[in-house]
Amino acid sequence: MSLWGGRFSGGPAEEMLRFSESLSVDLEMAVEDIQGSVAHATMLEEVGLLTAAEGTAIRDGLAQVAAELVSGDFQPSIDLEDIHMAVETRLTEIIGEPGGKLHTARSRNDQVATDMRLWLKGRIRLLDGELCRLIGVLLDRVESDGRTLMPGFTHLQRGQPIWLGHHILAHAWAFSRDRERLADALKRVDRSPLGAGAMAGTPHPIDRRRTAELLGFAGIVENAMDAVAARDHQQEVAGLSAILMTNLSRMAEELVIWSTKEFDFVRLSEDVTTGSSIMPQKRNPDAAELVRGKAGRVHGAVTALLSMVKNLPLAYNRDLQEDRFVLFDAVETTIASVSMTTRMWAGLTVKRDRYTEALKGDFLLATELADYLAAKGVPFRDAHHVSGSLVKWCEARGENFSALTLPVLQEHHAEFGEDALDWLELESAVERRTSLGGTAWSEIARQVALLRTVIQV
Ligand code: ARG
Repeated sequence: MSLWGGRFSGGPAEEMLRFSESLSVDLEMAVEDIQGSVAHATMLEEVGLLTAAEGTAIRDGLAQVAAELVSGDFQPSIDLEDIHMAVETRLTEIIGEPGGKLHTARSRNDQVATDMRLWLKGRIRLLDGELCRLIGVLLDRVESDGRTLMPGFTHLQRGQPIWLGHHILAHAWAFSRDRERLADALKRVDRSPLGAGAMAGTPHPIDRRRTAELLGFAGIVENAMDAVAARDHQQEVAGLSAILMTNLSRMAEELVIWSTKEFDFVRLSEDVTTGSSIMPQKRNPDAAELVRGKAGRVHGAVTALLSMVKNLPLAYNRDLQEDRFVLFDAVETTIASVSMTTRMWAGLTVKRDRYTEALKGDFLLATELADYLAAKGVPFRDAHHVSGSLVKWCEARGENFSALTLPVLQEHHAEFGEDALDWLELESAVERRTSLGGTAWSEIARQVALLRTVIQV
């Protein structure tokens, strides 16, 4: 007989049991479920709804259930439906009657909402730690290899010369914004629904704030109906995970491109690559490709979570049980992807010469010539045109900018002076970009210091 069996004469069909159980996925939050029950029992005892002996029996019994779940001695069957009923059933088997008092002033609706929030809080902490580790590895990389000249790309076409450190930092800043989003979402996750009951509260003199405090929540969800119905905090965590995965995926895509023979900028370490079962020479960037692919999976979770809630009247509806199948997967996938990206960067070999070779024989300094004239007071639009015609002049001769001489420059514009050719030097072109956020090394060093204080590594 199930815990709600009083008004039923039969039970659900076997197929219904299999269709409706959430136990298989709830087990991921068994620890949180038991934590919630321990705090609830303590509060019930403190307000006089349980005797000290009952409170102790319940807490000891719950500790045993937890141990049995960990050891595998208790393997709940799916006819117990979900983790809440499984824990309570086993507890009552162990301690008898006091077990039946634990459910005073709560319902599975506030229980499940509490468990999910506790689970999310733990994962948010883990994810933030992983992001700090990733940013730390990226900053180390900026310091070790960042002073490598490379083309900065737009449209995947070579654009302007930059230091590699500038490029890596652009990603690091995106990940630091992911951390901000996480910290912000945590504020809304960190509220206790426990004690909301089914939706309407309870006539018993409970102390919801005390339960919240015992569980380490920053506060309570104020409205009991909202407490059991709200899932926007889950959508928010999935949403920020999807954004984070997009940021990771862009970086992964670059690693895929950079590790091709055509680019050959980096070599991924063996621990993140795989071979081919048919082509013996292959070394494939699977870890990066999988990060890219998993981004799609996490994007899907956002749609799933939004659409499973959008037509639900308040308060609890069973549809909500579907949430954790996608949310758990999305969050775990995101954590694993951040960790894998850290591993890729930790073991990466930067082929400094190859980056710099990619600058040769092209017109990456065309902007420099325009900036030279603009610095002399020529309107940038005109200067841009002059520089463009110099590119055309070189191309017509099958040459590049190394063919330019002072007379040729002056033929194109009278403002070109002796020092113009100095502007056609890669490193000084990069080092001139000292504006805030520019690619000059001084700016890179400033940002590295700034990011290190933010992540404290
Ligand atoms: N297994 C349910 C879930 O995960 C727990 C809440 C059940 N509530 C109910 N009214 N049937 O959402």
